[in-house]
Amino acid sequence: MADITARVLVTSRPLDEYCGLFGLTRARLAALPGPLLDCPGGAAGLAAEARELGCRVIATDPAYAWPAPELAARALAARAAMAAAMDTRPELYPAPRHRPYERYLRSWDRARRLFTADCAAHPQQYVAGALPRLPFADGTFALTLSGYLVFAYPELFGPAQQVAALAELVRVTAADGEVRVHPLHDGASRRCPHLDAVRHALGERRIASEIHTFPRPEDGGTRRVLVLRTADHRRRAALRGGPGF
Ligand SMILES: C[S@@+](CC[C@H](N)C(=O)[O-])C[C@H]1O[C@@H](n2cnc3c(N)ncnc32)[C@H](O)[C@@H]1O
Repeated sequence: MADITARVLVTSRPLDEYCGLFGLTRARLAALPGPLLDCPGGAAGLAAEARELGCRVIATDPAYAWPAPELAARALAARAAMAAAMDTRPELYPAPRHRPYERYLRSWDRARRLFTADCAAHPQQYVAGALPRLPFADGTFALTLSGYLVFAYPELFGPAQQVAALAELVRVTAADGEVRVHPLHDGASRRCPHLDAVRHALGERRIASEIHTFPRPEDGGTRRVLVLRTADHRRRAALRGGPGF
């Protein structure tokens, strides 16, 4: 897994960007009946900002096993990589959501600072862990969010790894809760070509999947989010085994 994490950016999105990406609102987060899991948490501001709303977030990421200076350096490097990508591939970062670029990157800077302070003040909310096996009991979370990993890095998560990772996210989520995953495309905006097959394999593990489209108020477009649920506690055992991809 060390090899994998070395190639993945440790990004630092703020709470409002999370809400936009996952079709959520601050009010919905404040009303959650249990804790929220952010997997991967990266260097996001979500846990720190959500606390102000009365929402408890546990963030998990293999990067939380690293010494704090290394984590901070990787988060800064991700910011630099994003700035460089915006310069070289501007078509991937359209207005108005990402522009002006400096304003967008400042929102990451603020989130990164909140993350760093929150990690030091509330280390128990940042748990080292890696998909496809998370260190949480079945059904722990009311809502699980997974941003910019499972479909964003297809060179690291092939179809079988995607199914295993998604099933694990469902396992740790309450039967009446849900998992939301975004994006469903890679870093070059290419849609996952085998999403139907992944959903079929999840179905064989008794995981229901839907693709929700949420409005993107910034530009009038829509955003696709994969929503996963299991309806029955007794079926949880199937999530750990079950047919492969
Ligand atoms: C692009 S960041 C996304 C962070 C955050 N969700 C966001 O949207 O800003 C990807 C994160 O995935 C983490 N990661 C890499 N491999 C992982 C794995 N197997 N399980 C969980 N997280 C992993 C990396 O350490 C990195 O922090």
